[in-house]
Amino acid sequence: MELSEAIGRRRSTRFLLPHKPVERHKIQRMLEAARLASHWGNASTLRAVVVFRDEAPDEVIETLASPVAGYQARLAPVLIVWFLDTAAVDEQHDRLRELVDAGVLGYGPDRRRALEEVLIPVFSKETLEHLKQPGLNEMDCGQGIAQATLVAFAQGLATCLLGTANPERIRKGLGMPESCRFLVTQTVGYPAESPEAGGQRPRRPFEELFHLNAYGNAFPRDPAVVEDLRREGMIQDPAPLPWREEELEVLTRGLGLDGNGIL
Ligand SMILES: Cc1cc2nc3c(=O)[nH]c(=O)nc-3n(C[C@H](O)[C@H](O)[C@H](O)COP(=O)(O)O)c2cc1C
Repeated sequence: MELSEAIGRRRSTRFLLPHKPVERHKIQRMLEAARLASHWGNASTLRAVVVFRDEAPDEVIETLASPVAGYQARLAPVLIVWFLDTAAVDEQHDRLRELVDAGVLGYGPDRRRALEEVLIPVFSKETLEHLKQPGLNEMDCGQGIAQATLVAFAQGLATCLLGTANPERIRKGLGMPESCRFLVTQTVGYPAESPEAGGQRPRRPFEELFHLNAYGNAFPRDPAVVEDLRREGMIQDPAPLPWREEELEVLTRGLGLDGNGIL
């Protein structure tokens, strides 16, 4: 699948086939993609616990069944619990040394000395403590999760990200150290929905989001580019599709959903 199409097909797919197992190698490919994502200072704070519903102990499944997760978590054969480990930030100086030794950061024969004398002092102990706070790490972990998500869709899988009202419960329930912050749980499975999954979601207008040269000057959206992206599959028919209500009815009955209709 081309990149444009993978981006177009990536959409939160909330109805998964509970009985169809997900191959472990497909999950590994998702994790490999997450590992390769960029991270400030190459600090690599992103971590995950992959939970296969059929294999995991009852206590683990119980931990993940929060009210926010609802029917989506119950249907998913696999749940990837993404979290970040702030302890990784303590090793950032070594990560920078690796980059310089690999020849991908800096230039010239003196770059190793310059790293120790110029760049590493910028990342003092105090600065690193500050950098452990919510912010940059979350953004970088998000890039990793986004790459994993695109790989999931490119492999015919579907996913949805789920928050929680009680991240500490999940952290403790999965045995993570205190240096870890829960990010999001990702459901993974084969879609019970049609590939359109209801159609492309509403978004704020392009011109409202992006600016050219100065804030307030809308980036001009060329209709010819939009047309190309439609052909490539990145831009698809918007929700609601005319037959969506019927599809929801079939999904509700077929999957035996009898909850409150939203969670
Ligand atoms: C960090 C994050 C957390 C989310 N948490 C939830 C959630 O708890 N429950 C849910 O149904 N969707 C959740 N979503 C999915 C969003 O609601 C979804 O992105 C939005 O409906 C737009 O749909 P799309 O992803 O198909 O474009 C989350 C998305 C992100 C990025």
